[in-house]
Amino acid sequence: MPALRILIIPGSLRTGSHNAKLAMAAAHEFAQAGADVTRVSLGDYPLPIYDGDLQAKSGVPKNAVNLKRMIASHHGVLIVTPEYNSSVPPLIKNTIDWITRVQDRHELRGQVFREKPFAIAAASEGRLGGTRALAALRLILSACRATVVPNQLALSFADQAYDDMDRLKVEADIEALRALVRQLIDVSQQMM
Ligand SMILES: Cc1cc2nc3c(=O)[nH]c(=O)nc-3n(C[C@H](O)[C@H](O)[C@H](O)COP(=O)(O)O)c2cc1C
Repeated sequence: MPALRILIIPGSLRTGSHNAKLAMAAAHEFAQAGADVTRVSLGDYPLPIYDGDLQAKSGVPKNAVNLKRMIASHHGVLIVTPEYNSSVPPLIKNTIDWITRVQDRHELRGQVFREKPFAIAAASEGRLGGTRALAALRLILSACRATVVPNQLALSFADQAYDDMDRLKVEADIEALRALVRQLIDVSQQMM
């Protein structure tokens, strides 16, 4: 069996982002479990806000095509999202919107979502830990007919969750992350 490849997409570009730190902690756990991990920054794939006229005129931007192919070349995907006004931030939604418009040769539009399992996590300084963003993201991915694994991680009080090395401090958070990682690995292996 080839090595399992996992793609991690943090949904924040902010310096010191709690979600980027959670993505890093997840990358460590996936590596510990023997997976090959790619952690992208969406800052390396800038996209305009989706506009049908723009797509009609210029097609789907190359960065969306590249991200779609990046997803296709992995066995499973973890999205780590902030919560903005009780939902997913525009960076995540806009990226997903563009990727659903990609149609590579011999494929249906948005086919990549149907072929890969996704796991979702969020970090927020609030008590709910981004739970509402996770509900929104699960709905969006499910509507794209993606398999979204049942476990999810909503990291509450994220400003207090990490030590000086940006590692998770609280044992329950570490265990929840490990359970999520384990589940995405299991489902990815089943879908390989
Ligand atoms: C426009 C905006 C809306 C926000 N809305 C929420 C919210 O609904 N729930 C929440 O828990 N945090 C909310 N926050 C706070 C973010 O969770 C916090 O800024 C978090 O640190 C962002 O993630 P990051 O650290 O990965 O950049 C909001 C922040 C911004 C900028």
